[in-house]
Amino acid sequence: MRIVLGVSGGIAAYKAAELARSLMRNGHQVQVVLTRAAEEFIRPLTFASLTGQKVITDLFSSASPEAALSSSVEHIGVAQEHDLLLVAPATANLLAKFAHGLADDFLSTLYLAFRGPVVLAPAMNNNMWSHPATDANLKTLRDRGHMIVDPDDGYLACGTYGPGRLAEEAKILAAVEQALQPKVLDLDGETILITAGPTQEALDPVRYLTNRSSGKMGYALAEAATVRGAHVILVSGPVALAPPTGVEVVRITTAAEMRDAVFANLEHTTVVIKCAAVADFRPSTEAKQKIKKTAARVSLELDPTPDILAELGRKRGNWLLIGFAAETENLREEARRKLETKNCDMIVANLVGQNSETGFESDANEVVLALRTGEFLPLPKASKREIAEQILNQILKLRK
Ligand code: PMT
Repeated sequence: MRIVLGVSGGIAAYKAAELARSLMRNGHQVQVVLTRAAEEFIRPLTFASLTGQKVITDLFSSASPEAALSSSVEHIGVAQEHDLLLVAPATANLLAKFAHGLADDFLSTLYLAFRGPVVLAPAMNNNMWSHPATDANLKTLRDRGHMIVDPDDGYLACGTYGPGRLAEEAKILAAVEQALQPKVLDLDGETILITAGPTQEALDPVRYLTNRSSGKMGYALAEAATVRGAHVILVSGPVALAPPTGVEVVRITTAAEMRDAVFANLEHTTVVIKCAAVADFRPSTEAKQKIKKTAARVSLELDPTPDILAELGRKRGNWLLIGFAAETENLREEARRKLETKNCDMIVANLVGQNSETGFESDANEVVLALRTGEFLPLPKASKREIAEQILNQILKLRK
């Protein structure tokens, strides 16, 4: 594929050279466009030597009137000839220009003329990253359907620690490959409500009961469903993940809040997927002040939380109901029991606590789908994104 790699002016600009090489190693042709500020950090010759292509830096060439005329429309040609626009690093200034449609140099002009997928990998100081202006610009760009590869936490050029460091190269390359995938919109018209992550049940102002759910499985489902055309409502417990592009997110903390959020969003829902690891118990009382440490033994009194899946199973509407089962033994028996007692259309069952490669927190999973026909469909170990795609394939079959 033909990729435009835009580089804007930040300290991470030097990392774009290695990125250009990796894109080429993955079989892509790379056309580099540098902003004027990027040239302060890295010379065009570096990219020209790596890619074997002329590097574009100026909107207007001053060489001759003819050259000036042809270069003044070059951005249109470059926009038409390429399959994807990637900007890495994308500075706060560049995000603002893209968000507001300012076109005062080659890269920003190219952006307005470009009609293909856009991937942006921001890098900046942590305060600039969390500034409401940057936040609003990112929201605009996400809503426009662009893929944002969120920066990593780390030590920044200014000496502080926090979010703002250009994402690892592997994440940027994965986003590029994902953005280049042909879109199959087989979930167009569906509204899928997905719960993800843990809940937290407060014991006092500083302590709570929770579990090890990272949200990765639920977020993978949300991302896969959106890419396939569904409108996704993601009811999410507290997790450290950025929500996938285009997903409507409802943030909650407790099981009771999750219950209310789920029931408030059922009206247009066609499929409910209960992937969240809801805490089964909450402290019977929440202390107003921090409970003091003493030498004495302390006992906790716990009340059950609302069983949201069971309540949905009793209510049954015009939607498919997909539950999860996290088990440490008897996977299939427990999956079958939950399918029946919670009145679901399918249970996605996974073993947890056995190893660190699947289940909680890991990037991969291995599950068994329990169906109402009595069948079990095992899905061998794969990335959570791949497992999510296969769960959605099965949901499509159930819809039909
Ligand atoms: O988030 P990750 O780190 O990626 O990990 C993924 C996962 C292991 C959390 C996920 O794959 C998973 O198994 N989710 C379900 C976890 C769970 O709570 O399972 P359970 O067997 O305890 O609950 C059965 C079902 O009832 C689940 O759909 C659960 O959402 C639902 N439930 C449970 C309790 C409760 N009070 N209300 C509920 O709705």
